[in-house]
Amino acid sequence: MEWMIDTANLKAIKEAVDMLPVTGVTTNPSILKAELPFDYEEQLKKIRLLMPGCSMHVQLGSEECGAMLEEAADLRALLGKDIYVKVPVTENGIKAIRLLKKRGMNVTATAIYYPMQGMLAVSAGADYLAPYCNRMEQNEIDFGKAIGQMRDMIDLGNYPAKILGASFKNAGQVVRAIDCGAHAVTVAPDLLRSALKSALVTDAVAAFTRDYQRITTGE
Ligand code: G3P
Repeated sequence: MEWMIDTANLKAIKEAVDMLPVTGVTTNPSILKAELPFDYEEQLKKIRLLMPGCSMHVQLGSEECGAMLEEAADLRALLGKDIYVKVPVTENGIKAIRLLKKRGMNVTATAIYYPMQGMLAVSAGADYLAPYCNRMEQNEIDFGKAIGQMRDMIDLGNYPAKILGASFKNAGQVVRAIDCGAHAVTVAPDLLRSALKSALVTDAVAAFTRDYQRITTGE
């Protein structure tokens, strides 16, 4: 099971890496835009440095296949060969995924709303598939069922692809994605931390602390 953080905020990344068992970081142009102003390449390099040993997934901004290949090569030169380029699963994207895999690049297929999109990305050689769980739910697409169907295809065909659930707005969606077969999830740091500081947990710990004080000091 892999837990990744879906953010480009340097402070949030540092705090999450210090506290949580995270194995990777994911961004997209909209997530990065929230952190402006910055120099794009410098911001990516800072994120990379904050997460040594973790996977980093950076989305391509180009829509044409040739431009995607060039952008991916630039990102690999900037961030290292272990970088994962996120490619939206469109017609151009599927073509790019096949060519990027032939060039030995790591690929995360993204913007997945439909199981067949994910299945095509698996056949194209994608390393990770990122279904957009909350966005699917908002559009009355059963993301749990879709994850299960993609997982069945991966397991039956013995493909190396992993499902990386994304676009979460609450803990229930995260748990359901994992329950339905996601190998990994990428979650905003605040949502990850919210699971650890609910009122029920806080109250339970406060009671234990009071009782510990009593049994150890008699007060
Ligand atoms: O990685 C980005 C994906 O998680 C989309 O998230 O919140 O824009 O639906 P959101």
